[in-house]
Amino acid sequence: MKNIFRKMTLADLTQIMQIEKQVFSNFWSEVFFIETIEKDICYVNRLDRELIGYLVGKKFNKVFYLMNFAIKKELHHQGYGMQMMRFLLSFLIKENFDFVFLDVRESNKAASNLYKHFGFAPYRKKLNYYSSPVEDAVQMLLNFNWFKKL
Ligand SMILES: CC(C)(COP(=O)(O)OP(=O)(O)OC[C@H]1O[C@@H](n2cnc3c(N)ncnc32)[C@H](O)[C@@H]1OP(=O)(O)O)[C@@H](O)C(=O)NCCC(=O)NCCS
Repeated sequence: MKNIFRKMTLADLTQIMQIEKQVFSNFWSEVFFIETIEKDICYVNRLDRELIGYLVGKKFNKVFYLMNFAIKKELHHQGYGMQMMRFLLSFLIKENFDFVFLDVRESNKAASNLYKHFGFAPYRKKLNYYSSPVEDAVQMLLNFNWFKKL
């Protein structure tokens, strides 16, 4: 099986929307994805011919904000999330970013455990940040500068 990462295109949107609606209660609209493809950093993970995951992030100088990150539900717990995060972090290190940060629902242990694996640390809480259902967000941060000093 061939697992590849490549830039997201408009042709990916049908499969992305299927996953998005499957895994998020307050999912992004297709229009929002179209806008982000044009201006942000967006990649998909393809396993053979199937799109199995995607990530979307914004660049602020040397800081990267991960806005969306998902793997197809049927394929959870098989290491694909870790592979996609490894791909993202290698890309950001090559591009010489200093920090990555993200928001995660407080109850989303699958995601926050994965982020902790890679050294992300909780940084601050955003009260009632999410809707459907209303929940606090935990902002997590990974500082590449620490590794650059080693
Ligand atoms: C978060 C997500 C991308 C993880 O993808 P995945 O392919 O299932 O993750 P992996 O199989 O690579 O798991 C990696 C690690 O994550 C953690 N993890 C994954 N699922 C977990 C769960 N249900 N509970 C606790 N930890 C979990 C574990 O630490 C796991 O390591 P382990 O296998 O050594 O225990 C996936 O659950 C997902 O798409 N969730 C819905 C969308 C989402 O929540 N996105 C993040 C928004 S902030």
